[in-house]
Amino acid sequence: MLSPAPEMELYSAEDPEEVLELLTDQYPEELLGLPLYLYPGETEEPQEMEGPGKAGTEHALDCGSGIGRVTKHVLLPVFKSVELVDMMENFLAEAQNYLQGKKDRIKMYYCYSLQEFTPAPQKYDVIWIQWVSGYLTDKDLLEFLIRCQNGLKDNGIVILKDNVAREGCILDPLDSSVIRDLSILRSLVEKSGLTILQQERQEGFPEHCVPVWMLAMQKDPGLP
Ligand SMILES: C[S@@+](CC[C@H](N)C(=O)[O-])C[C@H]1O[C@@H](n2cnc3c(N)ncnc32)[C@H](O)[C@@H]1O
Repeated sequence: MLSPAPEMELYSAEDPEEVLELLTDQYPEELLGLPLYLYPGETEEPQEMEGPGKAGTEHALDCGSGIGRVTKHVLLPVFKSVELVDMMENFLAEAQNYLQGKKDRIKMYYCYSLQEFTPAPQKYDVIWIQWVSGYLTDKDLLEFLIRCQNGLKDNGIVILKDNVAREGCILDPLDSSVIRDLSILRSLVEKSGLTILQQERQEGFPEHCVPVWMLAMQKDPGLP
């Protein structure tokens, strides 16, 4: 991982230009694509989840939340309450500042690694996993996705959004993370028992950036 100070600066940057500038200082150009943490339209995505047969809008879980950027811009505009889980205590502490004013709608901050974390059964309308899956091994990601299924309400969905390699796996020696290609990600999802409802590539990123994809998944309807 990067040292906490620049990481904190990075995760809290809101202007894409500012993010790129910070990252250019830290990453070689071929790794840029890790970086675009905010883009126009991000806050519009979840609105489409509402409606009959679709996920509810009561309770969401932000996995690998960092300081709560996704919670603030994507989840709180839609869900009545949100819980955050991240392994870094200092990010969760900062999240409490970053999300001030929304305190009553943040139900819990869990300081756990996703390898150790089990979402409570049937609790969440949406479990959102953004820019963190690359820090998990295949085994840990698979097991986490299996545990996420149990955490979903009926009609609940898991959203996985991350950088996706054009082919194979790209290892990032700077923070020991991995960028998987879509077929590897899809095969992990399928092994977990989740069904992919939709997949979509994020538009509007420069061509030299690693593509960013979002997968929406639902649990096996046969599960309790
Ligand atoms: C690139 S940031 C993404 C933050 C946030 N999801 C966003 O999109 O703004 C990665 C976050 O994942 C957290 N993280 C990395 N590995 C983790 C793990 N194994 N379990 C839980 N959190 C982890 C880091 O502490 C960091 O906050």
